[in-house]
This record gives sequence, C-alpha cells and structure tokens, in this order.
Amino acid sequence: MFASLAVAFLFNATAVTGVQQPAAQTKALDPKAWGGNHAGKPVPEFVQGDECLFCHRNDIGPGWPTNTHGATVRQKEDAPKLAEFLKGQAPLAPIAGEIEYFMGSRHRVRFLKKAGYGKFALLNTQAALGADGRFQLSGDGKLAWDAERFANRCAGCHASGVDASTKAFAAFGLDCFTCHGVVDPKHTGDTSQVFLSKKRRTESQVITSTCAQCHLRMGKSRSTGLPYPNNFVAGDNLFQDYELDFGKADDESLNPGDRHILRNVRDVVVYGLESPTCVSCHDVHKQSSLKHHRTPRTAICSDCHNAEGSIKGSKAYTVHSAVCEY
Ligand code: HEC
Ligand code: HEC
Ligand code: HEC
Ligand code: HEC
Ligand code: HEC
Ligand code: HEC
Repeated sequence: MFASLAVAFLFNATAVTGVQQPAAQTKALDPKAWGGNHAGKPVPEFVQGDECLFCHRNDIGPGWPTNTHGATVRQKEDAPKLAEFLKGQAPLAPIAGEIEYFMGSRHRVRFLKKAGYGKFALLNTQAALGADGRFQLSGDGKLAWDAERFANRCAGCHASGVDASTKAFAAFGLDCFTCHGVVDPKHTGDTSQVFLSKKRRTESQVITSTCAQCHLRMGKSRSTGLPYPNNFVAGDNLFQDYELDFGKADDESLNPGDRHILRNVRDVVVYGLESPTCVSCHDVHKQSSLKHHRTPRTAICSDCHNAEGSIKGSKAYTVHSAVCEY
C-alpha cells in the first residue's frame, strides 16, 4: 500500500508543483517498524508541571501561563477576559454560573464543568472570534451538558495522562509530560537524559510522533477506537497503535493547517526524511514559527505559499476540524 502511495506522491510532486523531492522519498518505510508503545499499559507516574516550574521558573515559567498547550483548558479564575465575556451573554445566563473551565482560546472557546474524577462535562455550544476581534456565541439550540463527550472525543489531546480504560485524565490542560515524557528528577547533572533537551539527539520520527499524537486530527487508536492515542508516552512510536490514511496529504481540499502537518508527518515517518520536522519551523516555548522563514524550500512550502516565484503572498490560511467541532 505504501509503495503505490510513494509513486503517486512523487508523480504529483513533480507534475503539479515542479518542486524536486529528495531521493529518500522513493523508498516507503513501514511507520510501525521502530520502537515500542504503551497502549493498554497503566499511565506512568510523572512529576507534574508545577514541580518542574519550581526550578524552571526563569526559562520556561514566564511563557507557560499563556502557552496554548498548558492553557488549552483553564479554570475560570485564570481567564478573567473570558469570565467577563460570559457575564454579557444572555443565552448562557441560565447556566453561566455552572461553567468552571474554558477550553481553547485563540479562535474558539468551549465551556466545561467537573463531572467526577478526571472527567468534564462539555456544553453543546461554542464561542468564536469574530472579525471585530470579539468572541461571539454560535448556535441557538437548547443548552445541554454532555457528560461523556469530552472523555470519548477530546480528553487525550486536551488533557494529560488519560487512562484508556476509564478515560479519566491525571491533569487538565497539557502538562510538560505530554512532550517531555517521564523526566528523571536527577536530570540536572546530565540533561541529555531529558527528551527534547538540547544535549539529546533525537531522531526525527521520534520527535514527529510526539507532536503528531495530538496534531494529526484524523486518525484513531486501533486498540480503543477513540480519536486520540492510547496512552502515548513521548519517545513511543505513535503509529503502532494510531492509524490514519496518509494518502489524505495529497487531498488538495484539506485545509493548509492540517495538510502541512499530515504531509510533514508522512515525509518523516513514511519517506524517512530527516528534516524539516515540526520543531524546525515551530518553537513551542517561544510560541513562534518565525524560524520557518529560514527552512529550505521544498514541496511543503506550497501548502501555504505559491509553488513558484516569490515566497510572498501566502495562500489564505484557514483551519477547520471535524474532530474539534469547528
Ligand atoms: C498532548 C497534545 C499535544 C501535543 C503533544 C502537542 N500539541 Fe501542539 N497543540 C495542542 C493543542 C490542543 C493546541 C491548541 C490549544 C488551544 O488553542 O487551546 C496546540 C497548539 C499548537 C500550535 C499553535 C499555537 C501556538 O502555540 O503557536 C502549534 C504551532 C503547536 N501546537 C505545535 C506543536 C509541536 C511542534 C509539538 C511537538 C513538539 C506539539 N504541538 C505537541 C496539542 C498538542
Ligand atoms: C487528536 C487530538 C485532538 C482531539 C481528539 C481533539 N482535539 Fe481539539 N485541538 C487539537 C489540536 C492539535 C488543536 C490545535 C489546532 C490548531 O491550532 O491548528 C486543537 C484545538 C482545539 C480548539 C481551539 C481552536 C482555536 O484555534 O482556538 C478547540 C476549542 C478544540 N480543539 C476543541 C475540541 C473538542 C471540543 C474536542 C472533542 C469533541 C477536541 N477538540 C478533540 C487536538 C485534538
Ligand atoms: C507541546 C510540547 C511541549 C510541552 C507541553 C512542554 N515542552 Fe518543553 N520543550 C518542547 C520542545 C519541542 C523543546 C525543544 C525546543 C526546540 O528544539 O526547539 C522544549 C524545550 C524545553 C526546555 C529546554 C530549553 C529550551 O527552551 O530549549 C526546557 C527547560 C523545557 N522544555 C521545559 C518544559 C517544562 C518545564 C514544561 C512544562 C511546564 C514543558 N517544557 C512543556 C516541547 C514542549
Ligand atoms: C530540582 C530542580 C529541577 C526540577 C524539579 C526540574 N528541572 Fe529540568 N533542569 C534543571 C536544571 C538545573 C537543568 C540544567 C540547566 C538547564 O539547562 O536549565 C535542567 C534541564 C532541563 C531540560 C534541558 C534543558 C536544555 O538546556 O536542554 C529540560 C527539557 C528539563 N530540565 C525539563 C524539566 C521537566 C519537564 C521537569 C518536570 C518533570 C523538570 N525539568 C524538573 C532543574 C530542574
Ligand atoms: C516547513 C515549516 C513547517 C513545518 C515542517 C511544520 N509547520 Fe506547522 N506551520 C508552519 C507555519 C509557517 C504555520 C503558520 C503559522 C502562523 O500563522 O504563524 C504553521 C501552522 C501550524 C499550526 C497552526 C497554528 C495556529 O495558529 O493555529 C499548527 C498547530 C502547526 N503548524 C503544527 C505543526 C506540527 C505539529 C508539525 C509537525 C508535524 C508542523 N506544524 C510542521 C510551518 C511548519
Ligand atoms: C502552514 C503554512 C505555511 C507553511 C507550510 C510555510 N509557510 Fe511561510 N509563511 C506562512 C505564513 C502564514 C506567513 C506570514 C507570517 C510569517 O511571516 O510567519 C509566512 C511567511 C513566510 C516568509 C516571510 C514572508 C515574506 O515573503 O517576506 C518566508 C520567507 C516564508 N514564509 C518561507 C517559507 C518556506 C521557505 C517554507 C517551506 C520550508 C514555508 N514558508 C512554509 C505560512 C506557511
């Protein structure tokens, strides 16, 4: 299956975009071949972010409260602007007092309340950022809390340490653990022990698996059937339990947000390219993609820029996701 994919992709790449593909892409690899995984095993014990930040308060601390990863689920007290927004919404008035947490913040917001240990109930409405830079409620149906939806559809990518059998999370929002894995407290003397540290050389497919555990919003776990991975731990091979259709990377109608991600993941895990990876273009802690300007020009650039000529004039950049319901 991958072999025929590779031929189709090569043909497309040269015929449509005129951009040369590196030779490595002629050979399709089995993405499941390397490493191991934690599917079906207990969630490992991990030191939570507050403890990490006690020592990393100067390097990571300042940016963390507003980092979209850590803040993807926030308590109402920590989001005064959104709490203020709630007050002015007449349709929400009957249940506004029940809302305890917000999910999302940049373009879309959902509303949550606690529903037992490691569980949230999700409200069936959302607010979207309008052209005027203000949030607006969408939908006018009857308001209802769904106590299962977050656990069944969202938890693995918007919370940390989700147990696949109970679907309960260990911490809301995305903890350091989701990207750095289990960090040995003794790493201060030898930082090469820590996943994603400057001193540790990590193979491209391992880094890619880590970001892809959440950013491939189109696959499902083989073992659970859920739309998020089964107990992925940074360092694991995602593709042993998470399945998806890589052919979709050639689908011109896929939005550039999801498409460049799928294409990049395929280039690395199926065609064996070493670069670029997500971290060649994105800096997670600085929340910047500025370094992508200096990344060598290949076919991936055409997901957002015109294939030939000046790099300027990026194509309209939109993101939609059936999984995230926007
Ligand atoms: C455990 C899930 C998860 C992992 C792992 C993860 N992300 Fe994310 N990422 C998210 C979610 C969820 C959001 C959106 C949060 C929001 O807006 O509420 C996001 C947002 C982003 C954004 C857009 C917002 C911004 O901050 O600029 C970028 C870029 C990004 N992630 C890159 C990465 C990279 C690179 C990696 C791997 C090093 C990674 N992510 C790992 C879940 C994850
Ligand atoms: C497979 C992982 C995954 C699952 C499952 C998932 N999300 Fe997401 N979600 C993401 C990622 C990754 C982003 C950031 C995407 C981006 O910015 O391009 C995101 C972003 C969001 C955002 C913020 C959008 C914005 O730009 O402000 C909201 C709101 C959201 N998701 C809601 C949900 C809801 C509700 C569910 C469950 C019904 C859900 N998501 C399930 C991975 C996931
Ligand atoms: C969404 C993924 C993600 C999460 C969550 C995350 N990190 Fe990182 N972190 C990275 C990546 C990727 C790098 C490597 C930077 C690079 O190569 O561009 C990194 C680098 C670092 C570094 C090295 C200094 C640096 O800036 O390069 C420290 C220290 C660090 N992280 C601590 C933390 C702590 C503490 C937390 C939790 C509060 C955390 N990280 C959460 C992805 C993440
Ligand atoms: C007792 C203090 C302490 C705690 C707790 C701690 N760290 Fe560290 N960490 C350090 C020191 C000291 C270094 C080495 C100096 C440096 O590079 O910042 C380091 C280095 C790192 C690096 C590599 C930085 C680089 O330059 O490449 C990462 C990543 C990291 N820590 C992540 C974490 C995470 C994630 C946690 C929580 C699970 C954590 N640390 C908890 C003190 C601590
Ligand atoms: C060749 C460079 C490049 C590579 C490789 C790349 N990205 Fe991107 N990505 C970008 C650029 C540029 C944007 C647009 C950013 C902006 O609007 O500032 C973007 C947008 C995004 C967004 C949406 C940000 C938002 O504002 O909602 C997410 C999420 C994301 N990338 C994640 C990833 C992940 C995960 C990977 C690895 C699988 C990856 N990217 C690989 C360059 C890259
Ligand atoms: C996911 C979409 C996306 C991808 C993929 C992408 N870009 Fe961009 N690029 C953007 C956006 C959005 C901007 C405008 C914001 C900015 O400057 O980061 C931009 C701006 C730029 C700029 C500065 C604008 C100018 O013309 O002065 C350069 C240079 C650039 N991109 C190069 C590249 C190269 C080279 C690649 C491939 C390695 C690439 N981009 C891939 C979205 C993307």
